[in-house]
Amino acid sequence: MSKEEVMHPVKKNVQKEQLEAGLKPFLLVKYFSFSSLAVILVFTLLLSWIISENARKIMLQQNEEYSLLLAENINQQVFRRFVLPAVIRYGGIALRKPEQFELLDSVIKGVTQGLKIDSVTIYDSSMNIVSYSTLHDRIGKKDLGGPEYYKAIGGNPNSRLTYSGSVFSLLHLTHEIRCNLKTYIPFRQVLQGGKEGDLIMGVIEIEKDLSRNYSNIIRLQGRIIIVSSVLMAILFLVLRSIVSRGSIIIERRAVERLKLEEKLNQAERLAHLGTMVATVSHEIKSPLGIVRSTAEILEKRIRKIAPGNEHLAKIVVDETIRLNNIVVEFLDFARPLKPNLALCSVNDSVRKVLDFLSSELKNKNIELVMDLAPGLNRCNLDQELFYRALFNIIVNAIQAIDKEGRLQISTMKSANKGIDIVIKDSGGGISEDMIHQIFQPFFTNKNKGTGLGLAIVKNIIDSHGADIEVESKIGEGTTFKVTLPPR
Ligand SMILES: Nc1ncnc2c1ncn2[C@@H]1O[C@H](COP(=O)(O)OP(=O)(O)OP(=O)(O)O)[C@@H](O)[C@H]1O
Ligand SMILES: [Mg+2]
Repeated sequence: MSKEEVMHPVKKNVQKEQLEAGLKPFLLVKYFSFSSLAVILVFTLLLSWIISENARKIMLQQNEEYSLLLAENINQQVFRRFVLPAVIRYGGIALRKPEQFELLDSVIKGVTQGLKIDSVTIYDSSMNIVSYSTLHDRIGKKDLGGPEYYKAIGGNPNSRLTYSGSVFSLLHLTHEIRCNLKTYIPFRQVLQGGKEGDLIMGVIEIEKDLSRNYSNIIRLQGRIIIVSSVLMAILFLVLRSIVSRGSIIIERRAVERLKLEEKLNQAERLAHLGTMVATVSHEIKSPLGIVRSTAEILEKRIRKIAPGNEHLAKIVVDETIRLNNIVVEFLDFARPLKPNLALCSVNDSVRKVLDFLSSELKNKNIELVMDLAPGLNRCNLDQELFYRALFNIIVNAIQAIDKEGRLQISTMKSANKGIDIVIKDSGGGISEDMIHQIFQPFFTNKNKGTGLGLAIVKNIIDSHGADIEVESKIGEGTTFKVTLPPR
């Protein structure tokens, strides 16, 4: 059975708002933790970019220094071992002559042998034409030097770094990783004592392939991104599980608090209602008694004076009896319940109710099946109240059966070592949307019902620390189960 109370939609909205208000501070913490996670992720990516950018700068700087030193060495060697001997031996430099070219080639190869250099190129001093290159197909070509050539010819050594590829190249999404450093220095005359003179005879270009170093840097960047992403993912999962657990606990607590508040409000409302009903019922009871006894006297007199009309007075008597029953029911409901507990037999109480209702059962042609477990422990009950509770449940069951049907009443030991009383009828049943409301005071679908019967039952059951459950199916019948606690 669902003991939930049916709520008004407006009340539901108010409760939802209260629930959300209770969760607000936690939601703020939740958003704060997730947004700080996003900030950390952005910072980690930025950091990985700064680290790799720095590594790239250091690599460039070191290689540039190395290339400049090498270029200076080539400058010295070429001047001493080629330019001077060529001027002395051949009267001038003419690289078209194979013996001069071979001499220069052997000098340069001697200097660069074993070093990780891709090419050495020497440009002439005026036309940006390649005079010599270890890559022979470049010789004689014009304008290969670019702006760096002109800077160097003006006396300023400089470098150009060209690279392609990024972390995406690791996934083979963009072109492969390439990096190339070209260093240009002015090819100067060397004076006696090894000092360089002012005369610039051309430009020396040294080309170095740095693809391996560059791809190492990109791999480092990729590793930083992967490690930080994995860390962030772990952190995110941990945070999410903490947050979701926290929100479940907080939500549960908020719901419990709201339910408690609702129950308190309901109890308060019922208490007010109870007092009012008790006062009104009490005031009605005495005049009702007077009306009834007067009607009874009238009935007797009419029988004498105007026989055949006494049924009119009988109607008044019957209706006052009915009204009196209603008033008594109101008073039962409103009166604070303090059960007078004593050890009693449950089976005896059941039998007593059924004895009282036997003629009603016969009139309606209802088959009664009693299955009362023998030897049940006696229970602490207020016999009168418990009788009234059983009476209300069984009367409802009889009323639910139109004509002919079956009423089954069983008692047994319950799972918690108390006693179960099961009342099962083959009546019309209760619909799903009604079943939540049957214990509410004044809920009825009967013309002459007050809707207090089950509310009184609930009060009595609660006052005994017992439990009541209901199961029903339209067209099949209803089963009430009362579970009394162990003694
Ligand atoms: N055994 C049952 N089978 C079908 N409907 C039931 C049964 N018991 C209770 N109900 C439903 O629950 C409603 C509330 O029952 P409750 O006993 O509180 O009031 P009532 O019987 O209508 O009036 P009264 O105050 O005279 O008892 C009933 O009107 C009826 O619709
Ligand atoms: Mg009833």
